[in-house]
Amino acid sequence: MLNSKIGGLGHYVPDKVVTNHDLEKIMDTTDEWIVERTGISERRYGKKHQETTSSMGAKAALLAIKNAGISKEDVDFIIFATLSPDYYFPGCGVLLQRELGITDSAIGALDIRNQCSGFIYGLSVADQYIKTGMYKNILLVGAEMHSMGLDYTTRGRNVTVIFGDGAGAAIIQPEENSQKGILNTFLHSDGTYAEKLIMVNPGAHGGYHNDKMEAPVDYGYPDAEYGEVFVTQKMLDDGLLSPHMEGQFVFKMAVVKFPEVILNGLSKAGLTAKDIDMLIPHQANLRISQFVQRKLGLRDEQIWNNIQRYGNTTAASVPIALSEAMESGMIKEGNIVCLAAFGSGFTWASATIRW
Ligand code: UT7
Repeated sequence: MLNSKIGGLGHYVPDKVVTNHDLEKIMDTTDEWIVERTGISERRYGKKHQETTSSMGAKAALLAIKNAGISKEDVDFIIFATLSPDYYFPGCGVLLQRELGITDSAIGALDIRNQCSGFIYGLSVADQYIKTGMYKNILLVGAEMHSMGLDYTTRGRNVTVIFGDGAGAAIIQPEENSQKGILNTFLHSDGTYAEKLIMVNPGAHGGYHNDKMEAPVDYGYPDAEYGEVFVTQKMLDDGLLSPHMEGQFVFKMAVVKFPEVILNGLSKAGLTAKDIDMLIPHQANLRISQFVQRKLGLRDEQIWNNIQRYGNTTAASVPIALSEAMESGMIKEGNIVCLAAFGSGFTWASATIRW
């Protein structure tokens, strides 16, 4: 059976830089708090009412296509990972396809909803399709336009200061050498903690969104026998249309699951942490990445961190970081590259790659 490999990478971040000092002006936060707790100094926001998740994804995709040395007509399948899609439905996959102008071809487009680990979940799906010989050039995109859906009041500060916009893309292709390419992927999930990092509304939960499915939460839905609305005045008034996170709980899980899933992948490939040439962690919090670095005994040049400049771009963070690391020349042929992510769901995942 063939292996699969990442044949080309690309990323795009919008021009608009939003610093911690910019956020200090609109909510009760400080540069010191944000830097100390997260490592973030600034993030990018897409151009309001012009850029979208799929349009940023398309920019990253075109670069990945170019860097893979193929043309967009060669793409035979699209996988799009995001938690901030342009529309509730249809998903961003078809919008990206339209944006790239490859709608004539008989290709499929799949949307992945695994938040921070969406790119690695997508990579795992692509890997299987390539291995079976079904597709030859899969376009995998992770993109986010968080800035449209955050709470810019002090109420939302623990989440809002973290998130940023951007997109990353990869072309997944067959690899003839069985010792190279994607050696394995590990996928995990545990829905027990779904509400620990969540955006509840708009949704079809009807108020039943707690883990025990007890009495519904009152969202001010109209009292009608048929017909419901997704968005109520109460949701708008009470700021219930943005993400919610129990930060410390998520943090404590992340620092356990990151090393675990990385070591599982390495071990399955007959490797240890000593073999890692480059670790690309999901950029959730610089403190989490530093913890993982220490736990695995990695030197600074063996881990890629860019959260300082972009914040947490969830599904886009791994491909942006990987694309940057590649561009910088830090990844060379034969290197062992590990990708790892943990986030909402909870879902977590790793990919072990010999470049
Ligand atoms: O990407 C998906 C996975 N996500 C993660 O892995 C994120 C994991 N969690 C974290 O990164 C951290 O928990 C945060 C950075 C989100 C928060 O840091 P923390 O050290 O856990 O802070 P906390 O939530 O425990 O809040 C500590 C205090 C609170 O005030 P009191 O109750 O002690 O008076 C918060 O209200 O800090 C306050 N606070 C802020 N203060 C200034 C929360 N957000 C802010 C803020 N600026 N932006």
